[in-house]
Amino acid sequence: MTEQPIIRFENVTKQYDDDPPILDNVSFEMEKGKFYTLLGPSGCGKTTILRLISGLIEATSGKIYFKDKLINHVPANKRQVNTVFQDYALFPHLNVYENVAFGLRIRKMKNDEIDKKVREALRFVNLVGFENREIKEMSGGQRQRVAIARAIVNEPEVLLLDEPLSALDLKLRTEMQYELRELQQRLGITFVFVTHDQEEALAMSDEIFVINEGKIQQKGTPRDIYDEPINRFVANFIGESNIIKGKMIRDFLVEFDGKQFECVDQGFSPNEPVEVVIRPEDLEITTPDRGKLNVKVDTVLFRGVHYELCSYDENGNEWIIHSTKKAEIGAEIGLYFEPEAIHVMRFGETEEEFDARLESYDSYGDKDAD
Ligand SMILES: Nc1ncnc2c1ncn2[C@@H]1O[C@H](COP(=O)(O)OP(=O)(O)OP(=O)(O)O)[C@@H](O)[C@H]1O
Ligand SMILES: [Mg+2]
Repeated sequence: MTEQPIIRFENVTKQYDDDPPILDNVSFEMEKGKFYTLLGPSGCGKTTILRLISGLIEATSGKIYFKDKLINHVPANKRQVNTVFQDYALFPHLNVYENVAFGLRIRKMKNDEIDKKVREALRFVNLVGFENREIKEMSGGQRQRVAIARAIVNEPEVLLLDEPLSALDLKLRTEMQYELRELQQRLGITFVFVTHDQEEALAMSDEIFVINEGKIQQKGTPRDIYDEPINRFVANFIGESNIIKGKMIRDFLVEFDGKQFECVDQGFSPNEPVEVVIRPEDLEITTPDRGKLNVKVDTVLFRGVHYELCSYDENGNEWIIHSTKKAEIGAEIGLYFEPEAIHVMRFGETEEEFDARLESYDSYGDKDAD
């Protein structure tokens, strides 16, 4: 038995005037206590989804539920949701304590109760001792924590975070990723986190919704989305990919680059045109006589943990390789990859069709069980 979702969107569309919709028939469910990330390029509709959840805007059509209660017309201040904005929107003339206390004072809570809650919220974000500091005396990361304390002091059931880390430098950002994730687990509330940074999404989330042009392209765990992208957009957006056009000859046999390769995919029509993804780290460098594909090295970059090689096959297709082995520019090398490294995508497949296809694999029985 699964618990009822805390937030549910049912065919939600948001449209301004006669412009094309900004969100187009979006449906999803979010469970209590999980960390969700909305990931997608600028303008895809991430903030719009947060604003619909928080009640700052209303849907043009469709239904939004909070624990089975329809909330389309419930005003923002009546929803158990708080938002941490990208610029934190702190009050510069108030100190840390008063910034966090602000919402409680508005609610006319008693002073001793306010004090208890503010101190607890500050303890949660590791800011004990900073109560009397002015906001302008705080670093970017500390301001970010004040903003979070101010949001969690209201004990929301859902915390919305709109690119809260984008103003921080890389090191602080990584630290805050750990802190946020840990905070979410301690609080046990639902986080909806927005980013356009795929590594951040992979590192932090229980579930990622990949969004493009107002549509959810794919929902899933970081692993699912990385290993089984359902289309070219997702494959490209999540991690680096080699994507090449091909043809599914029959179950477990795919053709690309003029050759046929054993693979683990099934359920396509015979000779169906497909797109094939191979991750750069799944390509092994070998000698040309042992390669499944042979390529010529064009550029080599050292990336710290691995080399990134850009190479081309005889048909002019580009192959990016991540390897701890180095190769010389201009060298002919062989590329070896396992059948499992080949991931076949159906053209224009929707998420529902993809899920149905994956499920049908189970009914193939145990023929490839080991
Ligand atoms: N009030 C409005 N009127 C008309 N168009 C709007 C309005 N608000 C947002 N939009 C448009 O809706 C689209 C989605 O905006 P949204 O803010 O959700 O994007 P986003 O994914 O958060 O992008 P970013 O990563 O840049 O913050 C954009 O094309 C934006 O211009
Ligand atoms: Mg935005």
